[in-house]
Amino acid sequence: MTYETLLVEQRGAVTLMTLNRPQALNALNSQVLADLIAAFAAFDADDSQRCAVLTGSEKAFAAGADIKEMSSQSFADMYGVNFFAGYDRVTATRKPWIAAVNGFALGGGCELAMMADFIIAGDNAKFGQPEIKLAVTPGMGGSQRLTRAIGKAKAMEMCLTGRMMDAAEAERSGLVAKVVPAAELVDEAVKTATAIAAMAPLAALACKEMVNAAFETTLQQGVVFERRLFHGLFGTEDQKEGMAAFVEKRAGNWTGK
Ligand code: HXC
Repeated sequence: MTYETLLVEQRGAVTLMTLNRPQALNALNSQVLADLIAAFAAFDADDSQRCAVLTGSEKAFAAGADIKEMSSQSFADMYGVNFFAGYDRVTATRKPWIAAVNGFALGGGCELAMMADFIIAGDNAKFGQPEIKLAVTPGMGGSQRLTRAIGKAKAMEMCLTGRMMDAAEAERSGLVAKVVPAAELVDEAVKTATAIAAMAPLAALACKEMVNAAFETTLQQGVVFERRLFHGLFGTEDQKEGMAAFVEKRAGNWTGK
């Protein structure tokens, strides 16, 4: 499958997706969204694929939603089509995926990166929610996901001033899982994704679901949800295999059953 604004390749069990609109620093227009929805659906449906990496270029992961596409839209246009709601289909991806961010991740670019299960940043990465400078606000989840990721003080400061945060501050603040040299970013992210792809697939789905539940529920309900999923994994062949492999001092051989 080929896409207009996205390069997709499979590296073993890892799907590598690269945003490819260099002339606009990967600004996220409707075509990019359509391509992302299709590529993530294909990834989720492909049994041979276990983890994905979404990246951009060395200069920009994505410099935001496409300002030129949005500039003349009216309230009726935006509300009528529920503009940006398509990203809910990207966040509905069930398998784990990583955002690998080099360069600018601004506005919608930062918001898209935060839709990932976690972010790995190159040391040249710059994150920001500069929408206020355009007289608007985050619109793809930034006010919610940034606040959950780094807390109110820094999220509010970033949204109100539009300032950028560099990779070191992003790591200190908990926005990114780790920082690596920019030139090694994609290889490092694929390496991490390959390690995740080698885990028992149902356990990986369950981990993702239960960590995400932490943002949607109370501690007590979240702990119950975790425990039920944990119990459920004892109905899988892979749990028997994983524990037998440990006892027999060998690697597990997963069936995904
Ligand atoms: C459309 C964009 C764009 C964007 C860059 N380009 N960002 N086009 N939408 N978000 C285009 C430029 O117009 C230019 O096209 C080309 O990409 C290269 O960009 P330059 O500005 O020339 O590059 P540079 O000088 O290196 O500056 C990089 C930059 C700057 C600092 C990232 O491009 C910038 O500030 N971009 C906008 C960042 C932003 O405000 N993002 C938030 C968007 S709103 P031409 O044709 O001139 O060569 C958003 C809202 C989400 O995401 C939800 C609420 C609405």
